[in-house]
Amino acid sequence: MRSRFVLFATVAFLNPAFCEEAPVSFVKDIKPILQERCVHCHNRKTLKDKVSFETAKLAFVKNEAGQSYLVPAKPDESLMVIALESPDMHEMAMPMVGPKPTKEDVAFIRRWIAEGADWPKGKEGRIKPTFYPKE
Ligand code: HEC
Repeated sequence: MRSRFVLFATVAFLNPAFCEEAPVSFVKDIKPILQERCVHCHNRKTLKDKVSFETAKLAFVKNEAGQSYLVPAKPDESLMVIALESPDMHEMAMPMVGPKPTKEDVAFIRRWIAEGADWPKGKEGRIKPTFYPKE
């Protein structure tokens, strides 16, 4: 019995999953990126007819062509990732104007979606625009 436990412990310890980085946290890692780089445009007031990233409910939607902005576990099918990984001046490239998220930020978003795109409900999941652009 005892040796079985030792074997289990050894296998668990050698398992690469044991050494992997902590999962991406929406609140700590993703929310600040969307708040600083996206939500001043992508909110219900500024771009009324476009996707809003203020809450999960508003963000987990499809565009007119039927493509989703966020597909849990499938970053390659998520418009958010496609837009962020499109080269500058490409019609899909985002943000349309203004500072871009860093490569690390984009990698975080990609990993967050791959891990299931967990976007909490309630206050934690709500993103307030830092400002509203004036026309
Ligand atoms: C300066 C304003 C602005 C900022 C900042 C901005 N966007 Fe956009 N975004 C737009 C506009 C305008 C459109 C619509 C473009 C169109 O219809 O051709 C759009 C469209 C999109 C689309 C959709 C395309 C589709 O075909 O449905 C995605 C995805 C997107 N934005 C993601 C982001 C993300 C992620 C950020 C933050 C990193 C961001 N945007 C920042 C203005 C902005």
